[in-house]
Amino acid sequence: MKEIKGTKVFDAGEVEEGAKILQKGGLVSFPTETVYGLGANALDQRAVKGIFKAKGRPNDNPLIVHINDKEDIKPLIKGDLPSIGERLIDEFWPGPLTLVLPKGEGIPDVTTGGLDTIALRMPDHSIALDLIAKSGLPIAAPSANLSGRPSPTLCSHVVEDLSGRVDAIIDGGETGFGLESTVLDLSREVPILLRPGGITYEELRAVIGEVEVDPVVIGKQEKDSNKALSPGMKYRHYAPKAQAILVEGEKDKVIDKIIELLGDKEGKFGVMASQQSVKNYPDGVVVKSMGSRYNLSEVGSNIFKILREFDQLDVDKIFIEGISDQGLGLAIMNRLRKATGYKIIEV
Ligand code: TXA
Ligand code: MG
Repeated sequence: MKEIKGTKVFDAGEVEEGAKILQKGGLVSFPTETVYGLGANALDQRAVKGIFKAKGRPNDNPLIVHINDKEDIKPLIKGDLPSIGERLIDEFWPGPLTLVLPKGEGIPDVTTGGLDTIALRMPDHSIALDLIAKSGLPIAAPSANLSGRPSPTLCSHVVEDLSGRVDAIIDGGETGFGLESTVLDLSREVPILLRPGGITYEELRAVIGEVEVDPVVIGKQEKDSNKALSPGMKYRHYAPKAQAILVEGEKDKVIDKIIELLGDKEGKFGVMASQQSVKNYPDGVVVKSMGSRYNLSEVGSNIFKILREFDQLDVDKIFIEGISDQGLGLAIMNRLRKATGYKIIEV
């Protein structure tokens, strides 16, 4: 165990210590297969309030409750799990799929941002599952970043944002997927995708047929995000310190446009490029590879990390190559559009 600004940093062998802190109403950050979460006992109003305070998170933005056993769903929801939910859980849990269901009794309003629904997920990460099991509690956990910053995919990101603000962080190395879970609302007549993530729209369709998509998921303008059904989707998010601009369109045109924009301006610039196009940009520009444009999991796992790396480099502007929004591309483009505050150029 190390200690940084009063926050304990545990390694994977010290999960038990983290569980004890959760039982006492403390805040513990832990790795999941998507991003690091900041956990507290979902049933303890005071503990959950602490999450909002530590992150600087708006109160109307509800939290996802993490469980490690399907049996734990029952007391958290109202009525029975719909059969569609059973099918999704059989197929995708543990994994990056969050299900929104009518909320059961006894769950504090702070946990669900005052909504009458609750978001549930079973993470696919041994430390997360072990921590939840050892605590014996449902664990409310948003991503472990300061509100508005890119989600953390490394322990050092959590330390950077939250040391001195939370009781403990469990270091589990780099998270796998790197983007947050898919959020699917099952409390309505037709299931509706509220946030794209690790489980794709296409995969959901293959299991349950009809799925609606909240317009905010593909939104390309700030105003689209204000109508979000998932409150978290309306806030500015993932933002690097420098102004970022996303260029969307056909691959070669995107590269040409960014080269043109780089020539226009004076200052220190960064480019987030696919591995295939890194070589296209002029010297003097800081070019970072997001990964192969043919390997979207690789791109997904890198984008938050790269946005944070640019913060260390003090660039004035970041130009980002857009990719296709099929499959995992939908989640990637959703995060990139938000990261730029919807500063998008279409070519
Ligand atoms: O992968 C993830 O989901 C990570 C890890 C830590 O599990 N967690 C995460 O939590 O991304 P957070 O708080 O950063 O995002 C939760 C999203 C927000 O957009 C929130 O508005 C939405 O889920 N949400 C939570 N409860 C909801 C509800 N009852 N109805 C609609 N949206 C809800
Ligand atoms: Mg978040």
